[in-house]
Amino acid sequence: MKKVKLSLSIVLVFAILATAMISPAYALSSYDMSASQWDTYWQGYKSDGKALYMAPGGNESEMNFAWLGNTECENPTVYVKSSLIGSYDEFTGISVKIDNDNYSYQVTVYGLLPNRTYMYYYSANDYTSSVNTFKTGKADGFSALFVSDVHISEQTDNPDGESVKDTSFAFHEIFTQAYNKDNYMSLVISAGDQADHGLLSEYIGLFSSPLMKKIPFAATCGNHDNKNTVYASVINSPNRYNKGQAIVPDKNGGDYYFVKGDVLFLFINSNWTSANDHYNFVKQAVEENSDVKWRVAVMHHDLYGGHHEGREDENRLLRLMFVPIFDEFCVDIVLTGHSHVYSRTHVMYGGKVSEDIRGQGHVTDAAGTVYITSGSTARPRGNVSAGSDALAYDFISEYDYIYNIMDFSYDTITINSYSKDNFSPFEVFTLEKTSNEGGHPNEGHNDLYFIVGNIGTLVSFVQTIIHIFETLFASIGIEF
Ligand SMILES: [Fe+2]
Ligand SMILES: [Fe+2]
Repeated sequence: MKKVKLSLSIVLVFAILATAMISPAYALSSYDMSASQWDTYWQGYKSDGKALYMAPGGNESEMNFAWLGNTECENPTVYVKSSLIGSYDEFTGISVKIDNDNYSYQVTVYGLLPNRTYMYYYSANDYTSSVNTFKTGKADGFSALFVSDVHISEQTDNPDGESVKDTSFAFHEIFTQAYNKDNYMSLVISAGDQADHGLLSEYIGLFSSPLMKKIPFAATCGNHDNKNTVYASVINSPNRYNKGQAIVPDKNGGDYYFVKGDVLFLFINSNWTSANDHYNFVKQAVEENSDVKWRVAVMHHDLYGGHHEGREDENRLLRLMFVPIFDEFCVDIVLTGHSHVYSRTHVMYGGKVSEDIRGQGHVTDAAGTVYITSGSTARPRGNVSAGSDALAYDFISEYDYIYNIMDFSYDTITINSYSKDNFSPFEVFTLEKTSNEGGHPNEGHNDLYFIVGNIGTLVSFVQTIIHIFETLFASIGIEF
């Protein structure tokens, strides 16, 4: 009898070990799909054609919505309520023309409370959607997914032969894997290059994950998005600086900001060379939200990561434009993409290392700004070279398909960086601030920035003239 018991226990141990070995290293959810399930889902999504996505509103109590239609609509409407009983509140918005056949309906919902689940549906013209739900962030902190270089790609002109459906699935898989790790995330931060050619079909793919109807997605314009002007029409951003204030308006919508929890998020279009406009935008956003503890900037071009032959010249110019702004306005973290390789700098101030944090996963009251470049979420880079001026602290090329989960609390911001299919992060890094000021110097910009700012704005003016002529000639069938 004793022998049988022993055998059973051995079998049990083997069974547990075998289960652990064949189980994925992460939990599954109802959002997980196989490739064939995605094919079926994709057919339904494409035939519906509305491509709804959610974006942050100007502050925690607001939420932006955008979806597509083929005709102008006077009163696109989102209906929202916070419980199973009671009636829906109605919020109406506007139609933004994308081209002759497509419109983006954009609505802002306000009066939302933290840590609630809301039910919503939307309608425009003779279409009414089914009911979806979203959760607002907790009052005492929140978490966010940080991704970059999703590169949803239309097949034409794509040497990899990828399609919008396949690249959209690749993004959905990463999005789901992150969501499975953290069901409470209430924001996605995307550092640009969402659409490979900036085409509407690619943005429709970007919005295809069902999680886009649940978690707001905040994008910034990458150089690939900037190949077209669709980005400006389909992305429903709050607090756009471009509206009437910019010296030279940006063809792709300009910079924007929002406040979430104790964080002021500054989303900057780094394709746009009007340095004075970027400066004025950050100044205004910071002055209007001077009591918000953390300042996090998001832009596409990495300033210190590089990892790409020939990009150092570009990085050097971009540092001239942007570093004085982040220094003067005490930005804590700058999140970027573009190089497709993960890197994190030491603490930087004045273009130099102000605090060497090699070997540390934590910095308190940092004497400057930390620049974090996410690797690509869906398109790994093959050949890479050394980081810009060797200022990038970590240089992680062996990991592909990167995503980051960021935890924001009043005192700390922690970034957990993962590669796809790995349960454990390859890096965990925490910034801590013991006061609103932290340890960031605040010496203002030097007089040279006046020259840089004006040259940048002059270049953007010339770019605008060229863009106007290109558009005019394209309308009569002439392309350069
Ligand atoms: Fe990219
Ligand atoms: Fe890029």
